[in-house]
Amino acid sequence: MQKIINASILNADFSNLKNQIDQVVSGGVDWIHLDIMDGHFVPNLSIGPGIVKTCRSLTTLPMDAHLMISNPNMFIPIFAEVGVDLISVHIENNALIYRTLQSIKDQGCKAGIVLNPGTPADAITSVMDIVDLVLVMSVEPGFGGQKFISSVLPKISQVREMIVAQNRDIHLQVDGGVDVNILPALIKAGADSFVVGSAIFRNPAGIGAAVQQLKQLLA
Ligand code: DX5
Ligand code: ZN
Repeated sequence: MQKIINASILNADFSNLKNQIDQVVSGGVDWIHLDIMDGHFVPNLSIGPGIVKTCRSLTTLPMDAHLMISNPNMFIPIFAEVGVDLISVHIENNALIYRTLQSIKDQGCKAGIVLNPGTPADAITSVMDIVDLVLVMSVEPGFGGQKFISSVLPKISQVREMIVAQNRDIHLQVDGGVDVNILPALIKAGADSFVVGSAIFRNPAGIGAAVQQLKQLLA
């Protein structure tokens, strides 16, 4: 499967969102990653459907919404409506996860399942037949700019084995603390989709150059 960079706009300069998105697009980023937080599932608030709709108007790139919210079911139709292509939900807070994933598919979106750093890979065994993406968090969700937790590397390899056993295209995404230094180890462990926030939007080399450096490592 083609390896991709997903730019997380969480730490972008929102006073100039169009400029920030234009820069990642011209740098050659593959997807835009939207971090949705409710101040309840995670101790932070971020963006909602209004900003996502604005992003949709600013680029034709695919967009994935990472829902870090206590009631994803309520918002799945809303994020589908504002134009996201893939919606990811956490396994940790959802006793009816299969129904939630099915409702994402029913809305015409691809469905992703997310594991926090402390959640073992086998927690998602029973949903592997429905998901289009597995997201392994490499920081505790809630904030950009945190340090990569390297103890998640074996879990990435474990999830890769689970994907191979499914014998169909499922993305393996890693999110949190990813930069050019850690990326080669993630590729080696079997990941193919890399969410990058601060290392793009807070990079002293500039946004476009940051994306290009990351993309070179995927070749
Ligand atoms: C954390 C988010 C991430 C994060 C990425 O809850 O899911 O997408 O903000 O940003 P960096 O790359 O700065 O860790
Ligand atoms: Zn995210």
